[in-house]
Amino acid sequence: MDLLKELESLVPELERGLGQASSLSELEELRVAFLGRKGRLARIMSSLPGLAPAERPAVGQKANEIKTALTELFDARKESLDAAREARALARFDPSLPGRAPWRGSLHPTTLVMEEICDIFRELGYDVASGPEVENDHYNFEALNMPPEHPARDMQDTLYITENVLMRTHTSPVQVRTMLSRKPPLAVVAPGKVYRRDSDLTHTPMFHQIEGLLVGHDVSMADLRGTLTAFLRGVFGGETRVRFRPSFFPFTEPSAEVDISCCICGGAGHVNGEPCRVCKTTGWVEILGCGMVDPAVFEAVGYDPEEFTGFAFGLGVERVAMLKYGIGDLRMFFENDVRFLAQFG
Ligand code: PHE
Repeated sequence: MDLLKELESLVPELERGLGQASSLSELEELRVAFLGRKGRLARIMSSLPGLAPAERPAVGQKANEIKTALTELFDARKESLDAAREARALARFDPSLPGRAPWRGSLHPTTLVMEEICDIFRELGYDVASGPEVENDHYNFEALNMPPEHPARDMQDTLYITENVLMRTHTSPVQVRTMLSRKPPLAVVAPGKVYRRDSDLTHTPMFHQIEGLLVGHDVSMADLRGTLTAFLRGVFGGETRVRFRPSFFPFTEPSAEVDISCCICGGAGHVNGEPCRVCKTTGWVEILGCGMVDPAVFEAVGYDPEEFTGFAFGLGVERVAMLKYGIGDLRMFFENDVRFLAQFG
């Protein structure tokens, strides 16, 4: 009965091995060698069919006993190794060390600037309104005096969902919706995402806009100038100079483009003798578009253009953030690099 002896010898052998094993990985090696699918015990068991039928029960029973004994030896050794490891870890643990605060996220610069701008307008008495990003042609173009085939549509060509449904190209449709659901006098700003076919170094197919609208009696271009000057000085600092240049938008008449004195070089055109890269030495940077609401827009929403006048303006939020924080690359806003984003906490 060599097999029985062989089985019995496994126990002292394992005991010796375990005594020398000092890590969980050595323990695992031993377990595979003794109890694994191709281990010592399994090999002995595989010779069982070769035995005379009368001998098999005794060997089988012994093998089971040995298996239990080996397993118990392993479990005991594992427990003591675990306990030793825990004790070592506890010995290293210093409860007097200061805790490590969990990492905290921060608001995206686009969000920060958007909130700052909305806050300024709230102080000026404006409401903040929002609307759908997927719009009807009517609200995005037609009600804004851009009928089908109007050439101004080209500048804002966008992503169409169906022939009449598209990703909004500006937040002006929110102004249309606001005028339809309310009566003047009213003052709103509409922040949000907008979509255009543009994609290059300084344009992305999605960006953020804030547009504003004020409608009432006897609203004049002087009100527009005063409001925008106060707003721009609020964002870029009290020293900021503001200038208006004639321009064209289908939904405003007259229309203007607004520049501010460059906030990087202070309007000087140079920084430390070097040409200013942001304003390209002109001392001015374009910041927004604006104008007096075109009577055709009032007619489209059922306001009497003889009774009401108003102004509107629109600007890109990323552009404001780039100028305000001196960010040189528009792509930074969309890459989600924490090293960039964490600087705005
Ligand atoms: N809707 C214009 C745009 O997206 C911006 C604008 C709004 C211009 C209001 C004038 C008045 O280009």
